[in-house]
Amino acid sequence: MSPAHQAGSEGGHPTVDQAADPLSDCTAEIVRLTGLRVQSGNRARLESHVHARLQRLGLHRPEELLQRLRPGSDSAAEERRLLAELLTTGETFFMRDRGQMQLLQGHLLPRLIEERRGERRLAIWSSACSTGEETYSLAILLHALLPDRHDWDLRLIGSDVNASALERARAGVYGEWSLRGSDAAFRQRHFTRHGWQWRLREPIRRMARFTRQDLLQADLVAADPNLSGLDLILCRNFLIYLAPPAVAAVVERLTACLRDGGLLLFGHAELGAHRPAGLRAEMYPQSVVYRKAPPLPSHPASLAPSPSSGRSSGPRSGRSPGQSSSRHPMHAPTGTRDQSRSRPASAAPSRLPPSGPLQPVSGRTRTAQPREPLQSAWVDANAGRHARALQTCRRLVEREPTQAEAHLLIGLVALELGRNHEARAALRKAIYLEPDSIAAHVHLEALQRQSAEPLAARRTRARLRQLLSHLPPDSPVPLLGDTRVLDLQARLSQFDAEPCPTT
Ligand SMILES: C[S@@+](CC[C@H](N)C(=O)[O-])C[C@H]1O[C@@H](n2cnc3c(N)ncnc32)[C@H](O)[C@@H]1O
Repeated sequence: MSPAHQAGSEGGHPTVDQAADPLSDCTAEIVRLTGLRVQSGNRARLESHVHARLQRLGLHRPEELLQRLRPGSDSAAEERRLLAELLTTGETFFMRDRGQMQLLQGHLLPRLIEERRGERRLAIWSSACSTGEETYSLAILLHALLPDRHDWDLRLIGSDVNASALERARAGVYGEWSLRGSDAAFRQRHFTRHGWQWRLREPIRRMARFTRQDLLQADLVAADPNLSGLDLILCRNFLIYLAPPAVAAVVERLTACLRDGGLLLFGHAELGAHRPAGLRAEMYPQSVVYRKAPPLPSHPASLAPSPSSGRSSGPRSGRSPGQSSSRHPMHAPTGTRDQSRSRPASAAPSRLPPSGPLQPVSGRTRTAQPREPLQSAWVDANAGRHARALQTCRRLVEREPTQAEAHLLIGLVALELGRNHEARAALRKAIYLEPDSIAAHVHLEALQRQSAEPLAARRTRARLRQLLSHLPPDSPVPLLGDTRVLDLQARLSQFDAEPCPTT
C-alpha cells in the first residue's frame, strides 16, 4: 500500500484527496521551486516523501509543504536538500570518465599549473562530488603533477548537498564499487587495503577538504568565500537532474565562481542545447571544456568570433606563445575514428582523426601547422574560432559531400552556437553517411533529450546500445576520446532509468 493510501486511512494523519490529485500540481510546483526534475520513475518516491514530511511536520496538505519551500522561508534550504537527496543519486567512482581524466592529467591541469606558477596558487572545486571519489581523483592527479605542492596555496574543495555523503568523503574509505575499472597498480599506489575496503593514503586524503554546498542556492560565493576566483570547477553528472531553467541558473552561478580564464567541466552533453553566457567552448576529442572569457569590448557576448577576431583576440592563456604544451601532449587512443561500415564515399581518403594529438587550444594554437583541413577545423573549433571551423567544414562537404566527420563537426559547432536546427541536420547527415557513428548518435541523443523529445532520445539510445554491443567493454568509444564503452553504457542506463521528465 502506498503511503498516500496509508495517510488517507489513518485518523489524525494528513489526508490527500486522491481524486483531485493535488500531488500532480504539487510536483510541478516542486520543479518550479527547486529546479529539480521529477522523472516519471520518481513520482512514487516523491509521493511517499511528501506524505512522510506532512506526517512528520504535523501538516495536512501538500500546499503547506510547498509553503516551506518558497524563497524567503527559513525551511526552504532544508526541504530542498531533502528533495535533492530523494531525486538524485550519489553514483560515482574513481577516475570516472577516463577521457576527461586523461584530458585533465595531460593537458588542462598542466596548463593551469603553468598559468599559476607565478603566484603558486591553484583553486579547484569538485562540486556535487557525492562521496568524494571525483575530488580525490583530482588529488591523485595533482599529487603527481605538482610535486612542489607544499610550496603552493593549493585549494582542492569537494562539496555536495548531502551531508552523509560528505562524511564518507572525509573518511576516505571505499569499497570495490568505488574502484571499479581501477587496476591493481592504481590501488596499491594510492590506497591501503583493510579487509574489503580500501583506505586512501594520507597524503592524498589530506589534499582535499569537503564542505556542504547547495548548488541550487542563489549566491555560492556569499555562502562560502573560498568559492571565488577558482581556476577549475568540475560539475559532472548533476545537471542531468535539473530542469532547463535551473541548468542555466547553476551554470551562471558556477561561472561567477571562476576567475577570468578559469575552466568549467561538465559531464558529456550535460548542457545539451544550453549555451552558457560568458564561457567559451573549447572542443577536445575527450570533452568540451568551458573557459570563462574576460569581457571583450568589441564582441562582448560573441561565441562566434569572425576569423579575424579569432586571430586578433585569440584564445586567452597566461602562457606565452613560445611555451609549448608538448611536454604534456594529449595522447589520443588509437583507432578512434569511426571506421565501421560507412556508406560508400566517393573514395573518401582516410582523414586524420580529431582525436589525434590535436594542437592545444590556447594562444599557441596560432603557431600550429595543421596538416589537413579537417584537422585544422578541429583545431579552430577547439580554439573557439567557430566561424572558421564551420567555413572549413562547409568547404569540405561542398567538395566531398560524403565527409561524415565534417558533418559531425558542423553539428558540434552548431550545438555550441545554440543553432539546434543546424546541429540536428548536420548530425543526421553524419549518421546517414556513417550509420554506425557512435559519436554522432551520442550528440543527437543529447540534443533530443534536451529538446524534450524523450521518445526520440530513447530510440537513439537503443541504437547506441546496439552499436556499443559490438565493442569490447573496456575499449575507448570511437571519436569520444578515451570514454570507454562501459562508461557510455552506464550513462545510457542512467538516462533510461529517468526516461520522461514531467516538465
Ligand atoms: C551522480 S552524483 C555525481 C558525483 C560526481 N560528480 C561524479 O560525476 O561522479 C550527483 C550528486 O549531486 C548531488 N546533489 C544533488 N543536488 C544537489 C545540490 N542542490 N547541490 C549540490 N549537490 C547536489 C547529489 O547529492 C549527488 O551526490
